[in-house]
Amino acid sequence: MAETRPPRFALSGAGKRAWKTYLPLFGPDAYAPGIGTLVAVADDTPERLAAVTARWNVPAFGGDIRPLLDEVRPDVLIVTAPDHVHAEQIRAALSAGVDVLTEKPMTVSAAQAAAVVAAERRSPASLRVAHNMRYLNLHQTVKRLLDQGAIGQPVQAHLAYRLRPGHGRSYFLRWHRRAAASGGLQITKSCHHFDLLNWWLGDRPQEVTGWTRRVHYSPDTPAEDRRIPADADIDDVLAAVIRYSGGAVAHYSLSARSPWEGHTLTVLGTEGELTTRYEVAPPDGTPPAERYAVEVSPLGGAPHTHRIPVESGTHSGADARMIDALLRRATPQRASQAATAVDGAYAVAVGEALTRSAADGTVVAVDELLPGVRTCAHAGPAWATTGKES
Ligand SMILES: NC(=O)c1ccc[n+]([C@@H]2O[C@H](COP(=O)([O-])OP(=O)(O)OC[C@H]3O[C@@H](n4cnc5c(N)ncnc54)[C@H](O)[C@@H]3O)[C@@H](O)[C@H]2O)c1
Repeated sequence: MAETRPPRFALSGAGKRAWKTYLPLFGPDAYAPGIGTLVAVADDTPERLAAVTARWNVPAFGGDIRPLLDEVRPDVLIVTAPDHVHAEQIRAALSAGVDVLTEKPMTVSAAQAAAVVAAERRSPASLRVAHNMRYLNLHQTVKRLLDQGAIGQPVQAHLAYRLRPGHGRSYFLRWHRRAAASGGLQITKSCHHFDLLNWWLGDRPQEVTGWTRRVHYSPDTPAEDRRIPADADIDDVLAAVIRYSGGAVAHYSLSARSPWEGHTLTVLGTEGELTTRYEVAPPDGTPPAERYAVEVSPLGGAPHTHRIPVESGTHSGADARMIDALLRRATPQRASQAATAVDGAYAVAVGEALTRSAADGTVVAVDELLPGVRTCAHAGPAWATTGKES
């Protein structure tokens, strides 16, 4: 008889993301009951651990994940530690046969990403990457329209993302400010956007060229509440051109200082054009627009607008939909949207390719950063119903 007990989850990294999105899934006042049981938590900061164990009565472990894996044997490890910790903890879990849901970015380098993909291939366990932006209803509508051929074959995409100053600046104050810890904004932040482009276009990125600069945030910037630390070594303005295997080209930019936050997107296809805009609700309580609009203008036909309700909840409702799809016993249709280890690797590798291109002015071949990844095939994960990446 099939085992029916609820999955046992452990969590590593009890910081902001964990408290906002994952820890409240568990316990008597869980916001999404029925996901499973929290059986252990790890953090390398004792005060963070104490705060968690004061509320969730579970065993606590330090920053080395192996004792937790050995002693507790969870079904799934949720990795919400800082980015540079991901690769080692994912690989430890996979080699212990434990499924993993890791926060984005999967890793901070393409070499680490290739090692993670190889570790998953050797393991009976499986990895999913929490690319929550795939679960925004607006982004799912874009995906559906492109897949339905609403504009024919996509030829060019233009995605321009921007951050409000408070948000952009926060990356220069926290651990993200060190490229060694975050891979720079082109990995820690843009991995969301590179994954969206890869997913929307349904293709693998082949070549990347681009530029990065530091314009807005430096130790000399007049201090607001706190001066930017002198060890910040990441850039805040990015531009990239990404050529896909099928020939489509994506033009991407990120600015970490803008009056508004979100993106503008245009996709030009062989049969028309799709345009939309995603605006993140400001934190000052200003009500967001009630609907997003996706304009589809077919060549030789009347344009039409798809209106999608703006949802409440963290990341405009995307987190709740992602949790439902990834952590509940998912339906095949929902789980097929999940970002696999290979997807996570390509999102990271585009960011690293941008870093390399910016450094030496070359066009960087993405697959050369990910040896062995393109050819890999996988078996199915225990905690979702679709297969690993092909
Ligand atoms: N998907 C999203 O939209 C989204 C949003 C925010 C953060 N994130 C990701 O979530 C992760 C956590 O970000 P955050 O903002 O919560 O950071 P944070 O700094 O608030 O929390 C990280 C926690 O990990 C702990 N930690 C450090 N080293 C550790 C180790 N070796 N083992 C276990 N714990 C360790 C820290 O003490 C801290 O409590 C990052 O990977 C980040 O990129 C994703």
